[in-house]
This record gives sequence, structure tokens and C-alpha cells, in this order.
Amino acid sequence: MADAPELMVDLSALAANYAHLCRAAGSACRVGAAVKANGYGLGLMPVATRLHNAGCDLFFVANLDEALALRRFFPRVQIAVLEGLTGPKSAALYKQYRLTPILNAAEQLPLAREVFGGLGRSILHLDTGMNRLGIRFDEFTALHENGAFRDGKPYGLMSHFACADEVNHPMTETQYELFRQAAARLPGVRCSIANSSGLLRDRRYAMDFARPGMGLYGLNPLPERPNPMRPVVTLSARVLQVREIRPGESVGYGASHTQNTPGRLATIGIGYADGFLRALGNGKGRVFWHGQACPVVGRVSMDLTAIDLSGLPDDVPLPVPGDRVEILGSHQSADALGACAGTIGYEILTDLSRRAARTYINVANPVSSETKSDKMPGLRKSPEDKGRPRLRVVS
Ligand SMILES: Cc1ncc(COP(=O)(O)O)c(C=O)c1O
Repeated sequence: MADAPELMVDLSALAANYAHLCRAAGSACRVGAAVKANGYGLGLMPVATRLHNAGCDLFFVANLDEALALRRFFPRVQIAVLEGLTGPKSAALYKQYRLTPILNAAEQLPLAREVFGGLGRSILHLDTGMNRLGIRFDEFTALHENGAFRDGKPYGLMSHFACADEVNHPMTETQYELFRQAAARLPGVRCSIANSSGLLRDRRYAMDFARPGMGLYGLNPLPERPNPMRPVVTLSARVLQVREIRPGESVGYGASHTQNTPGRLATIGIGYADGFLRALGNGKGRVFWHGQACPVVGRVSMDLTAIDLSGLPDDVPLPVPGDRVEILGSHQSADALGACAGTIGYEILTDLSRRAARTYINVANPVSSETKSDKMPGLRKSPEDKGRPRLRVVS
């Protein structure tokens, strides 16, 4: 797989981003980390290990499988599971592995009481406007009035912002106010509403614990401002061929591009199976060679993409087969590539890591006192890593 795209993850940048978010949150806030979807595609174990070394002891995952994968290596950290208590079988595993369920519906409360002997190990998810998961405010009020919390409060109360990434979006403050009204009914309960954007948007939103994800991985939480987060990911693809193209000739499937002038193309080893989205075809996307943008020509195919080298200045050497072009790096962020494809940096990150060979750099203090294994957990394959070509740790 020497020609697979190579994804390099800078774990010291990840730790620096965690520290930045902790400073923004203030010392009263416990800053957790959303590591769902295999650490936003960057590798659950290396990411969680580095965050844990940086002081993080609260992790948010999407489902039970992710929680169990994390628990294998971290016997003591708090792991909160966003999908909620889906049934008695899974509830037993929550208890066995000391996972924190996030209760997303009133119907889940009796099960939590039965399995855990109360609500004190659960986080209650209040829906303040997402209409995705969570207990509606009126339902919560009714539960409260009917004495649902008389025999004990939940461990925490959370809600999720819908629009915190948009400057001055009125919904953010509306959600926060509704959340505070609910929290006032459970005095002393630990509160959490902030994702990365919320944390950086307003210190009030930090509350008792926070759940940032994207900012840790270098995406920009406040898109209207310069990105304060350090870039975590670089991705490169191998040049497989360089070829001349004549006027009138077409490129790729569907012959969607016809050349007007004599030109020069490179075929690079990345395609939509690697998460280099098909929407980047026909000039929408670009990659970089010596800092120069080379637009995508024709359609992106499964493993291959053609790029146009014709616009390179004379003083830039042409790439030769074996050279690597930059897909993500100092000239192109995941946010920027996402914008080219009409999507978001989150989707770019979680898709791009599918087939890439991964290299982790700046793996400081790889052995955590918390981890069960005496090896760097990142070197062990998590379920998500099965079938990956290569997992390499540098320095
Ligand atoms: C419930 C919940 N909390 C926290 C996060 C982390 O958000 P972000 O990655 O925007 O910081 C997410 C991400 O989707 C989420 O769904």
C-alpha cells in the first residue's frame, strides 16, 4: 500500500488544541472530548491516549461499541454514550463497564433507575431545539412536576447547540436560556451545553462540563474568525503518472472535461473511496504542489483523480511519479476542502481516513498510567482499524 494516501496526525497539536479549549472554558469547567466516529476519523486510541495524557478524563462517544473499545484501554475515565439506553441488554453492559448513559427520552428513565438503582449515573439530555434526540422542555417540566427527580437527580443535564458556529445566531441564546430554566429545576446538577463553537463563542456556555470535538481536530469553531486551533492533520497522495493532453481530448469517466489547449496532467492515487469526494470533480477541488493550486480535472473516480499541472509557474519543477501532492496541509485545511465540495470539514475528516495509511507524530508520553496495556494503545488495532493498511508512530 505504498501508494495509499498518507494521513499524518500531529498529536501535540491535538493536545495544544485541548489546552486552548480548556483555557477558553475556564477552570470551573471540566472539558471532555468528543471522540466518536473513531476520533473524528483520526484513530480512537491514539487520539484518546494523547488527550488523556493532556488531562482529559471525560470522553463522549456515539454508541456502545465505541464505548467498549475505549473502555478496554481506559479502565477509569468517564465515558458518556450519546445514543442513550436502547434496551435492557445494553443497559447491563453500561453497568458492567461503568459507562455513563445519556438519557434521550422519558421512556429511558425507568430502565436507568432499574439497572443503576437511580438516575445518579446518567446524564439527562434536554432537547432545546435540535429536534434530534433529547427530552422536550415541556416533557421535562411534566416529569419534574410529577416527582421524577424526587428520589435523586441525574449526574448531569445536557443539551446541544444547533447553530453555535454561526455568529449572532439567535437560536444559540434561546437554547441556552431554555436550558438554564430547566437546570434551575434541578439545583446543583452538573450542566453541559457547549460543543467547540459554544465554548469559544461565550464563556457563559462553558458551564460545568463541555463536549468539544471538531476544534480538537483542528477545524475552525468560529468560521467568521481566523482559526485559533492548530492544524492536526496533513494528507498527501502519490503522483502515479504525468501525461500530456491534446486539445479536443477528454479526461476520465463521462468525458466530462474536454481540453481546449495542450496541457499536462498528473494522475494521483486518491479517489472517492478514500473520501476525496466525487463532488470535488471538474474544477471544484484542488490539490497543492510546491504551494501551487492544481485543480481537479474531470470526474473523481474510485481510486484516481486527474489534476491539471498546466498552470504551474515555470520555476516550479513538475512532479514525477512517486512524488506526493498535498491534499490537506498548510495550503488547504479540511474546512477549505469541505467548502470546495459543498460540505463541512467534519465530513472531510471522517471520510478521508478510510483507506489512508496513518502516521502519528509527536506522540509524547505514549504510555498513560491509566491505560491497561503497557504498549502504546494506538499501536493496537481498535475495531475501526481492522483492515487498515498500516499504522505507524513516529517519534
Ligand atoms: C451531542 C454532541 N455533543 C458534542 C459534540 C461535539 O461537537 P463539535 O465537534 O462541534 O465540537 C457533538 C458533535 O456532533 C454532539 O453531537
